[in-house]
Amino acid sequence: TTILQAAREADIYIPTLCDDPRLEPYGACRLCLVQVKGMPRPVTACTTPVSEGMEVQTSNEQIERIRKTIVELLLSDHPNDCMVCEKAGDCTLQELAYFYDLRKNRFWGERRQYNKTDANPFIERDMEKCVLCGKCVRVCEEIQGVAAIDIAYRGFKAKVCPPFEKDLNCEFCGQCVSVCPTGALIGKQSLGKGRQKDIKRVDTVCPYCGCGCNITLHVSRNEIIRVTSEPDTLNEGWLCVKGRFGFRFVNSPDRLKKPLIRRNGKFEEVSWDVALEYVAERLKKIKKEHGADAIAGLSSARCTNEENYLFQKFMRAAIGTNNVDHCARY
Ligand code: SF4
Ligand code: SF4
Ligand code: SF4
Ligand code: FES
Repeated sequence: TTILQAAREADIYIPTLCDDPRLEPYGACRLCLVQVKGMPRPVTACTTPVSEGMEVQTSNEQIERIRKTIVELLLSDHPNDCMVCEKAGDCTLQELAYFYDLRKNRFWGERRQYNKTDANPFIERDMEKCVLCGKCVRVCEEIQGVAAIDIAYRGFKAKVCPPFEKDLNCEFCGQCVSVCPTGALIGKQSLGKGRQKDIKRVDTVCPYCGCGCNITLHVSRNEIIRVTSEPDTLNEGWLCVKGRFGFRFVNSPDRLKKPLIRRNGKFEEVSWDVALEYVAERLKKIKKEHGADAIAGLSSARCTNEENYLFQKFMRAAIGTNNVDHCARY
């Protein structure tokens, strides 16, 4: 158990930027500095294990001064365009600036200037907003096992990027977006679609496969603009590219909402009653003329277990065939 874990269990707040309980401790941001009795200097709570009889001060004047200076230094090389930033309202850096009441910049100097162009379809990368917490790099390697990005260069030039600074070309699971504490990594599909405070959040289950990951739909002006997942869910907040970014079908004008029957070479919209009656008639006719095994049923992994159970029951008991399969086997 680290000091940070123990503090959280006891409901004691210690600010962090680079910590995520689902990742290995890293000790990059230094915001979690605490004073341990008998130690000459403050230590990072996220990397220091607790020991018997240890006395820890999680907050005092000196520690708060150090933390405040760290946030000031980060902000001194940060675009500070919260007014138009997608992350505003859900940004750890913004929250820290608020609680440390940082209104003026004490440190002036060179600022990083990076090109934002990245032709990948899903993730907007604005490395001027990166605080080098390393969470994206670690999640990509530790959780996703991909290692598509890393911290390149050193010192002031240190920067998170794919190899050779090429455009991001990975699995696009978006775990990196989900752990980024600032607006450095943002899903492209939500850009300009709604402020955090106006978003309605709807908890549901991903419809793509039988894993049934818990997801939260972010709805703005009656449109899904983003999908997230909370760390305390069955899937621990991790999603795949389909669950994270494959939601545009919901608002697609091409989406089928009513059954279609092809008549005279053209699809016609019909009611469910008409469609089901048509299917029933055709199934009966095929069975009568060619036998039950002339019919096969293909179900979907996107259905629930109960729906798939009913489907195989229908094929076996009502139609009379064992020709049943589902899309997940392909
Ligand atoms: S990343 Fe956070 S602090 Fe930076 S501009 Fe966006 S909201 Fe503001
Ligand atoms: S989207 Fe997934 S695979 Fe791609 S860089 Fe981010 S974490 Fe790695
Ligand atoms: S891009 Fe985000 S998660 Fe990655 S190091 Fe920068 S601030 Fe941290
Ligand atoms: S949370 Fe401990 S150093 Fe960042």
